[in-house]
Amino acid sequence: MSALHQEFVPKPYTNFVESGSVAWKSPSNIALIKYWGKYGQQLPKNTSISFTLDHCATSTRLEFQSKQGKGFDITVLLDGKAQADFVPKIEKFFTIAMPYLPFLEDYSFTVHTSNSFPHSSGIASSASGMSALALCLLDLEAQLSGNGPSEEDFKKKASFLARLGSGSAARSIDGGLAVWGEHQEIAGSSDLFAIPYPEAVHEVFHDFCDTVLLVDTGEKVVSSTVGHGLMHGHPFAEQRFDQANTNMQTIKPILASGDLDAFIALVESEALSLHAMMLTSSPYFILMKPATLAIINRIWSFRKETGIPACFTLDAGANVHLLYPAQHKQQVQDLIENELKAHCKEGAYIHDQVGQGAVRL
Ligand code: PMV
Repeated sequence: MSALHQEFVPKPYTNFVESGSVAWKSPSNIALIKYWGKYGQQLPKNTSISFTLDHCATSTRLEFQSKQGKGFDITVLLDGKAQADFVPKIEKFFTIAMPYLPFLEDYSFTVHTSNSFPHSSGIASSASGMSALALCLLDLEAQLSGNGPSEEDFKKKASFLARLGSGSAARSIDGGLAVWGEHQEIAGSSDLFAIPYPEAVHEVFHDFCDTVLLVDTGEKVVSSTVGHGLMHGHPFAEQRFDQANTNMQTIKPILASGDLDAFIALVESEALSLHAMMLTSSPYFILMKPATLAIINRIWSFRKETGIPACFTLDAGANVHLLYPAQHKQQVQDLIENELKAHCKEGAYIHDQVGQGAVRL
């Protein structure tokens, strides 16, 4: 049994609410410094920082009806269609979240959810999905609590709960840049929840673009859960955690000054270090595909030819996130349309950019 975090255990509720519905739209995020390796109850072995995205998001409406008796009663509909295979993951999340949301057994829940990106796109919807659900549950809790928490405490608990559902979901609450994982040089940082990056950020990063190039839209050969697990006893684990924590220090002046050469060097190294961990796990595995490498090579030659500071990052999959400043949108999007698209599954990609965070619907 993991330690209880008293700060997130609510006081006894004062109101009775028979039924109702609440709704939130939550964004996905893309890490610049990657979380890979965890301990305890979904706690990160190193600090991570991500851009909150804008278009890639999940909208969730949670209907609740009070019920008698113990046990969870959850129905999930994706785009209006019953999705029974989502229920076990939510039940698992509810089980872990029970001490912090003691009303979970008191209601029958219907979760109506939809993603702005195609379900089969290979983009993980767990970050946006879990954060949207956590925010909906906290809206219900606020109704039960009479005078609800401050905006800051509400978001902190939302991030804490989203994390219990899916680690990187902790970073899908606020806009801009989010930091998760305690770091001595980031004030307020915590392993328990993410915070908005509290330091200076150059304006070039305010509307940075991310086009997700969809290389592989199928089921991953190795899930994130298994991949995180393989960091236990990994020969390079400690060096990797140190590298990420050092990179957090390195990125601070980069984010403040807008030094894009240094940004590119750090971000691309982080992506390849993440995949290097997969290549050197036991058993080892490869999530990149030939098209992933073809795209990376073309991004490199494009940068060399044009001097445009476009770079890539990867998450735990074959898709490539192409990152670039908004002022170079035209040239980069021409490159995508004319060349990179050919490497994407059915020519699919999604233009996105840094977003403002979750919104109540
Ligand atoms: O949240 P999870 O368990 O799906 O892990 C995500 C890990 C990466 O996407 C590879 C990196 C990150 O920090 O988001």
